[in-house]
Amino acid sequence: MTIEQYFDQHRQRFEDQLCEFLAIPSVSTDAACTPDVQRCASWLADHLRSIGVSHVEIIPTPGHPIVYAEHCTAGPDAPTLLFYGHYDVQPVDPLNLWTNPPFEPTIRDGKVFARGATDDKGQVFLHIKAIEAMLAVDGSLSVNLKLLIEGEEEIGSPNLAPFVEQNREKLACDAVVVSDTSMFAPGEPSIVYGLRGLAYLQIDIQGPNRDLHSGSYGGAVANPINALAHIIAKLKDANGTITIPGFYDAVLELTPTERESLNALGYSDERLKSDVDVDAVVGEPGFTTIERLGARPTLDVNGILGGFTGEGAKTVLPARAMAKVSMRLVPHQKHDDIATKVIDYVTSIAPPGTTVNVQDLHGADPVLVDISSPAIVTAAKALEETFGVKCRFTREGGSIPVVLLFDTVLKAPTVLMGFGLNNENAHSPDEHFSLSNFHTGMRAAARYYAMMGQA
Ligand code: BES
Ligand code: MN
Ligand code: MN
Repeated sequence: MTIEQYFDQHRQRFEDQLCEFLAIPSVSTDAACTPDVQRCASWLADHLRSIGVSHVEIIPTPGHPIVYAEHCTAGPDAPTLLFYGHYDVQPVDPLNLWTNPPFEPTIRDGKVFARGATDDKGQVFLHIKAIEAMLAVDGSLSVNLKLLIEGEEEIGSPNLAPFVEQNREKLACDAVVVSDTSMFAPGEPSIVYGLRGLAYLQIDIQGPNRDLHSGSYGGAVANPINALAHIIAKLKDANGTITIPGFYDAVLELTPTERESLNALGYSDERLKSDVDVDAVVGEPGFTTIERLGARPTLDVNGILGGFTGEGAKTVLPARAMAKVSMRLVPHQKHDDIATKVIDYVTSIAPPGTTVNVQDLHGADPVLVDISSPAIVTAAKALEETFGVKCRFTREGGSIPVVLLFDTVLKAPTVLMGFGLNNENAHSPDEHFSLSNFHTGMRAAARYYAMMGQA
């Protein structure tokens, strides 16, 4: 039997098993889901054993477990690849905006709808099915393969970072393979060579010792929501340039050659506008959308809380207000340095009569990978042969915290070959994954592993 025949014959079972995986609510940030996160790790480990992976373990951490596996039978001359992915998912709220319940996977219009479908369970599972097919058809793999699938990516990988540092030997490899990014467009595969970093902070403002009548006290006592609005307004100027002192100091400017190649991709502002239904794209002057999204830092308020938000009107001067603020970072910004700069600046502009507390919640450093490394050149070939079109090289705006460590600690290049699409609602209601990309993705993954084994 050929591998293609195997994929064809088992198409339905692969989709059914994907739905089983997606039905487990492995929400890493929600303490109530901890038993489900553990169950998901066990399900994954059992599944890897059932397809014949030779060594599978569940590694406990102070947080959620890591699923680690090895099938290293290709001999010392064959390359060693480390596959990385995450089995944890984002929270589901707002729940009422889902067409079907997020953990009751549903197939509609060639897409599977469920939390985690595209980010990242569907993309992890297509690699597992590629491995299953190779083991079933050939009886072996032509590369030495290690798998590292974590349960804490969506909360910043707090326990994976030390694990990587402490297990350099165990994780030693020639290249890392990750499918947790997007394709350039439907039918157009891409390799991402740049990911942004993240600095995530929470600003809490305390005003008076209790909520006050705004008639009796308003005008004499500082209002924490007004103070917060004042602070937020001072983080960017009218152009959208971030005004935190020193914020841009470490930013690596794009070279003319890279600008040219990014802009030659033909990113469409019109497609973006119609996708999210807005009448204009905005951003830093002097940069195109693809540059703003992948290669420039940003600042966004992610949430805000304070005062009276019920029905009707209540004249209250609230005691406190809170905002969550995050910045996407680019090389060579460092998240802890940026967090210090934000804390200093926000504290310095706090209006009198308020107490401001800024907490650094978590962060990730940005990363750029060298696209000339052989593992990436081969990946581009495998994608081109599978999809029948040229592979694009892009930068994306999201973050995968551990990728930088693969570079600095394991000294291995990371191949970011994603099979998601930007409009598949990752992190939002009705998340889904294209089944056509699921099936084509597993063929691309199998072809890639085979090509790496021949090299
Ligand atoms: N898969 C995403 C990362 C991503 C998103 C890459 C979009 C490329 C494009 C990942 O699961 C994610 O959501 N990461 C978080 C990281 C954070 C929690 C530290 C992110 O980017 O917000
Ligand atoms: Mn992800
Ligand atoms: Mn995510």
